[in-house]
Amino acid sequence: MKKWYDNAVIYQIYPKSFQDSNQDGVGDLQGIIKRLPYLKKLGVNTLWLNPIYVSPQVDNGYDVANYYAIDPQMGSMADFEALLKEAHKFDMHLLMDFVLNHTSDQHPWFQDAIKSKDSIYRDYYIFAGENGKRPNNWASFFGGSVWEKDPLNTGEYYFHLFDKHMPDLNWKNPEVRHAMLDIARFWLDKGVDGLRIDAFIHVAKADLYQNFPGNIDPVVAEPFYANRPQVLEWMNEFSHTLKAEYPDVYLLGEASSADVTLANDYLDPNGAALDSVITFRYFTEDLSKLNPNFSDQYQPRDLDFEAFKQNQVVWQQTVDKPNLYLNNHDLPRIATRFAKNDNQAKMYALLMHLQKGTSVIYYGEELGLRNINIPEYEGDESVDRFVKEATEAGLTKDEAMDMVNQMHRLASRGPMLWDDSPYGGFSNVEPWIKGINEQNVSAQDQEDDPNSFLNFYRKLISLKQTELFAKGAYRMLNIPGKTYVYERHLDDQSAIVALNFDHHSIEIDTDKTDVLMVVGDYELHDGKLLLEPDSGIVLK
Ligand code: NOJ
Repeated sequence: MKKWYDNAVIYQIYPKSFQDSNQDGVGDLQGIIKRLPYLKKLGVNTLWLNPIYVSPQVDNGYDVANYYAIDPQMGSMADFEALLKEAHKFDMHLLMDFVLNHTSDQHPWFQDAIKSKDSIYRDYYIFAGENGKRPNNWASFFGGSVWEKDPLNTGEYYFHLFDKHMPDLNWKNPEVRHAMLDIARFWLDKGVDGLRIDAFIHVAKADLYQNFPGNIDPVVAEPFYANRPQVLEWMNEFSHTLKAEYPDVYLLGEASSADVTLANDYLDPNGAALDSVITFRYFTEDLSKLNPNFSDQYQPRDLDFEAFKQNQVVWQQTVDKPNLYLNNHDLPRIATRFAKNDNQAKMYALLMHLQKGTSVIYYGEELGLRNINIPEYEGDESVDRFVKEATEAGLTKDEAMDMVNQMHRLASRGPMLWDDSPYGGFSNVEPWIKGINEQNVSAQDQEDDPNSFLNFYRKLISLKQTELFAKGAYRMLNIPGKTYVYERHLDDQSAIVALNFDHHSIEIDTDKTDVLMVVGDYELHDGKLLLEPDSGIVLK
């Protein structure tokens, strides 16, 4: 059956950094409303907002204290309703981020749970251990143990996979599952079109009373808390319940460690029954050139191009509608991470977004924005540790910080660059996140330049929505070297996307003559395409 999201091109907005309308340095919902015409002209038709619920902002909104209200920094419920209405007027759909694996420790459920062992909310969370002994050696993704002492001093601990201020919910408890459905209904009843489901692969945990083998304590123990079989059962119930009540709802699941087999289980109507899955497994990195004398955590690295290519072709050939993205709020921006120059940043865009699947464009990607340079990472222990180790190994502090800014996820969350005013048109006051990048060019300055990123992305997005690129089959063409060449075909139409990341020119036989998009330099005659280094082309 045809669905609205078959042709979705999603634009990810990090609301805190998009547009500040009340000059407090934090982006807000009225700011997004103001920029809807820009988004319409860009050509996207679906918006995904990172969390906007009431939150102490320990993890920038992924720590939710009230799922039923908008964080006052970002606006009010009336602002949200206005945004939804306006977006719909522009024929755009809206997706909310949906955080169901954990809450903030300030959430009333948790606050009640730590008042008494008899609290009816105690079993909403995972308390375990006794006499001050942690149940196991598992580590949190944010460092340290997953276990934090029960503030009630019972000798028990509570489980947190992320920050200690983000206790995990106990999905074994049917009341938790029902409560999450009720929250989803609240937003869907308002007219929201879908949910980006955060960290759902972690809702099921193994038997808590076992260590992960080895002598490390604490140790990341993913097999014990990621992609467990019960995830399918609980998400199946969640998805089917919502789809029965809201047949058009779009469910986009974040499955960071999913390979194609897991992704297909998550997409299977008998599995998690999601509509699309975001994996973090696309970008295999080349770790061979890292400095062994200090932590590799923030050491920049190249893309392992061959492995990346293999990953892409496997996803394209095995998963029905892969999610296509180059960066997001958890990853460095593509223009900083892998693209060596502007041409390559555009080539990665052609590579990724013209493939089969649903594109997600991270705000500012369409301007070729790079990471910002954050001067200080206040209170971030991993950064302090890294800088200490790197300077002990002989780097200067600036060199170490430069690495951090290339790699840290916060550096990809810089303010959107609208114009050339002091804070880039994002705000009149200093933004909540400090740091600039002078290599960036604002939307205003790109508007009338036919060769700008912005105009390139406009063309790309409109091409993406043509039948051939929206529905066509995908075939990788094996051209030797650091190249990426593929064909899309539908009935009697076909096109090729040819990209040369290599140092020398490449030649490809082709019968196509109609040039749809170009980056760099090429020659095309007598059935031969000559593509110079750092050049790409789309031919029909
Ligand atoms: C995934 C989100 O994308 C990330 O930003 C967040 O820190 C974790 N989930 C925890 O919610």
